[in-house]
Amino acid sequence: MEAIKWQGNSLLLLDQTRLPVTEYWLRYTDFRQVAGAIKTMVVRGAPAIGVSAAYAYVLAAREFSGLSDEDFFQKMTEAKATLSASRPTAVNLFWALDRMEACLAANGKSPAALEALEREAMAIHRQDVEMNLQMGRFGSAVVPEHAHILTHCNAGALATGGYGTALGVIRAAHQQGKVSMVYADETRPLLQGARLTAYELVQDGIPTTLIADNMAASLMGAGKIDMVVLGCDRMAANGDFANKIGTYSVAVNAHFHGVPFYTALPSSTIDLRLPDGSHIPIEERAGGELTHLAGVQTAPLGVRTYNPAFDVTPHELLTGIITEKGVVYPPFRENLQKLFG
Ligand code: MRU
Repeated sequence: MEAIKWQGNSLLLLDQTRLPVTEYWLRYTDFRQVAGAIKTMVVRGAPAIGVSAAYAYVLAAREFSGLSDEDFFQKMTEAKATLSASRPTAVNLFWALDRMEACLAANGKSPAALEALEREAMAIHRQDVEMNLQMGRFGSAVVPEHAHILTHCNAGALATGGYGTALGVIRAAHQQGKVSMVYADETRPLLQGARLTAYELVQDGIPTTLIADNMAASLMGAGKIDMVVLGCDRMAANGDFANKIGTYSVAVNAHFHGVPFYTALPSSTIDLRLPDGSHIPIEERAGGELTHLAGVQTAPLGVRTYNPAFDVTPHELLTGIITEKGVVYPPFRENLQKLFG
């Protein structure tokens, strides 16, 4: 399964707002519209946002390729700013755009860089899938036999270049015959767990049970969860990490019940410039996502809302961090620095 396809002069995105009911691909030739697609979550998930932004940067380079070197570079700087303003929390967006800009700088900051930029975006996409496969190899080793695994939000093929981070671990463990059941939190308010994770897992024939977010503690209390694995949008140098709102509650519940709690992430999600999680910018989204469900009003008009899209889980609640270079254990600051510094 994949959600991003590059076709040379256009970018195809599977519209994730319509899943699981409709599989509808949208075609983009304008980088501004890709920025809009990231904002409105046609494409979402930290690595997928980074890959899409890299391709959008190529679309911008194509659009401005008739300009003088100086004007071209100015326009590319503006395009990068437009794409950077789409969503603030997942660091993969900024990581991918910085990498594209470095490629442009290394190739003369001129329209002659177009082919190199296209190769770079394709490399970002390909390397993301490779990192996920590696995470699957390392992560599946910590999955016990007959595992009952809980996950939150969607950290699957749809959220990445392909295969998935947390769902990559689950896919690899399933291939080894270790997965008895995956419990997918539905993930209010936008239901990425119900709409996307359940969709991916059911398509792959992996045993899946959908639960509402407020059911996780009762399952853990009943001894029905052996481990938690979920994704990450940005990890600070000490291992504190931002992920979909509700992750923190899952972590607290897992800690209380002694359930191993892992996040899976590629190195493009690690932000060693931030000393701890308090520095991670948290996106707040429109209140309408809370007051309406699939277009139907579910709360009184005029009620105040608070709708942060992510929360920060303190590193003390983490058992381990599954990366493409191996599973990182405490002390996280030292061990992350050793592997990724
Ligand atoms: O708001 P979203 O759907 O972009 O949030 C996605 C998540 O929080 C994922 O868990 C995270 O991006 C990891 S995806 C491999």
